[in-house]
Amino acid sequence: MIRLSQLSLQYALPHTTIHVLRSVDLHVQAGQSVALVGPSGSGKSSLLLLLAGLERPSAGEVTVDGVGLDGLDADRLADLRRDILGIVFQQFHLLPSLTALENVAVPLQIAGHDDAFARAREQLAHVGLAERADHYPAQLSGGEQQRVAIARATVHRPRLLLADEPTGNLDEETGAHVQDLLFDLQRRSGTTLFLVTHDPALAARCDRVFRLHEGRLQETTPAQATA
Ligand SMILES: Nc1ncnc2c1ncn2[C@@H]1O[C@H](COP(=O)(O)OP(=O)(O)OP(=O)(O)O)[C@@H](O)[C@H]1O
Ligand SMILES: [Mg+2]
Repeated sequence: MIRLSQLSLQYALPHTTIHVLRSVDLHVQAGQSVALVGPSGSGKSSLLLLLAGLERPSAGEVTVDGVGLDGLDADRLADLRRDILGIVFQQFHLLPSLTALENVAVPLQIAGHDDAFARAREQLAHVGLAERADHYPAQLSGGEQQRVAIARATVHRPRLLLADEPTGNLDEETGAHVQDLLFDLQRRSGTTLFLVTHDPALAARCDRVFRLHEGRLQETTPAQATA
């Protein structure tokens, strides 16, 4: 589902160059769950953006579901994201002028699903927000916004879910509930999960754990994933 070969990313700033990723290789089978851990600033979010085709690598290749992202123009990348990807961004990126329900339903509706609003309502209920469907993002707490973002990213049962700290703002009980939702999706829809997390409990539930440190990616064990 994911293949990275010799992937490098650097940002050129006026007085220095930041080497975020140095020749990273990774192969993730369809249906696996993967946790990505590593210190703040190690490049976890950047790697997620590369996987989503929202950032272009400095060198190397990203292949998602057998498709090399390098050869795709912006329209084809948008098609790919709509059809097979779900993304939960670290800063959520909800549309402020749409209600929670609309944030979840509109992408589905654009993708041509007649039952978009019914499915969106159901998915909001799954993340415990049935009562908040008609509220705008500014009226919701950080954790509530995060759950709307998770509902939006999972409602179409994507083949690959990319999530940046999906339980980062949630209390223990809500976080556990959201974890169950993610692993249910993996089990029932065969969704590949790629989760950036600082939460050892979440990493421990994943099939594989990788640590990013000084631009290199290393496979580790869930027990060691406490960064
Ligand atoms: N657009 C950009 N221009 C320049 N530098 C950037 C840019 N985006 C990220 N960086 C730098 O790249 C490095 C990796 O950032 P990234 O956001 O991927 O880290 P992270 O592992 O997700 O951290 P956190 O755990 O704090 O979210 C950081 O040093 C950051 O300052
Ligand atoms: Mg980040």
